[in-house]
Amino acid sequence: MSKHKIHVTINGVPHDAEVDSRLLLVHFLRDQLGMTGTHIGCDTTHCGACTVIVDTEPTKSCTMLAVQADGAAVLTVEGLERDGKLHPLQEGFYQEHGLQCGFCTPGMLMTAYGLLSHTQNPSEAEIRHAISGNLCRCTGYVNIVKSIQYAAAQPR
Ligand code: FES
Ligand code: FES
Repeated sequence: MSKHKIHVTINGVPHDAEVDSRLLLVHFLRDQLGMTGTHIGCDTTHCGACTVIVDTEPTKSCTMLAVQADGAAVLTVEGLERDGKLHPLQEGFYQEHGLQCGFCTPGMLMTAYGLLSHTQNPSEAEIRHAISGNLCRCTGYVNIVKSIQYAAAQPR
């Protein structure tokens, strides 16, 4: 299998790496960099657990090759906390009980991050539409929506 040199900025930190041509971005993050906050729930683009931000867009990292991230800025769930302070979305999921088992949570957080980056005060319908590609087997989604609304109400 051919190898490729890539340069990716992840959570503000530049990384130079050599990757197999078929390596998925999610496997690059988890297996090569040890960043296991990004989850794998299906590997078939259905569950959204692997969602990260690539440049400005929420992206299912099981659907993107690591070589396609060459030159990009990637934000993962590990990059949300700043200086020991939770991101308003993390605070929202904590305050509004937006998780149970937590498996879907990294992907939910990153999808919500993408939504709030583009939409200052999303309606409930806009939130539900944004997270429609993220599956949660536990919560029934009500508290996830409340968690995102909590974050949207915080000054940014
Ligand atoms: S692991 Fe990527 S969408 Fe499920
Ligand atoms: S909290 Fe368990 S899958 Fe969402």
